[in-house]
Amino acid sequence: MSEHSDEHGHDNSLVRDHFLNPRNVGDFPDADGVGVGVGVGVGEVGAVSCGDVMRISIRVRDGRVVEARFRTFGCGTAIAASSVATELICGRALEEVRRFSNEEVSAALGGLPPAKSHCPILAEEAVRAAVEDYVRRQAVQRSTK
Ligand code: FES
Repeated sequence: MSEHSDEHGHDNSLVRDHFLNPRNVGDFPDADGVGVGVGVGVGEVGAVSCGDVMRISIRVRDGRVVEARFRTFGCGTAIAASSVATELICGRALEEVRRFSNEEVSAALGGLPPAKSHCPILAEEAVRAAVEDYVRRQAVQRSTK
């Protein structure tokens, strides 16, 4: 067992790095506004099992996520999962982000022990909810034109 691995032998150095130096923390101040070709979606989800809450906001331009932010109230792995999720989805087409998976989050964090399997699921749900929110806002905007 190295100094960066847990009792199950999982290397947690990536989780520690994202927990201690989280990327893309925050919100978008204009989260309620949608501009021409620019939009924002917000997905907020909670894990029933532990009470943790994760919010991921995306900014979309020309069908692609150009920026993402998160705010997470939860365990260190949930914070790391949301941090790495915001990095992973930046630059991706919305259709691809719609299929974003928790396995990808786990892999990007070097693999997670079973006890922490719902933390990346929260990230998957938050990312997908952000996309759905964006799509919904776009539809509302179109219907009011
Ligand atoms: S323990 Fe709740 S999301 Fe990690």
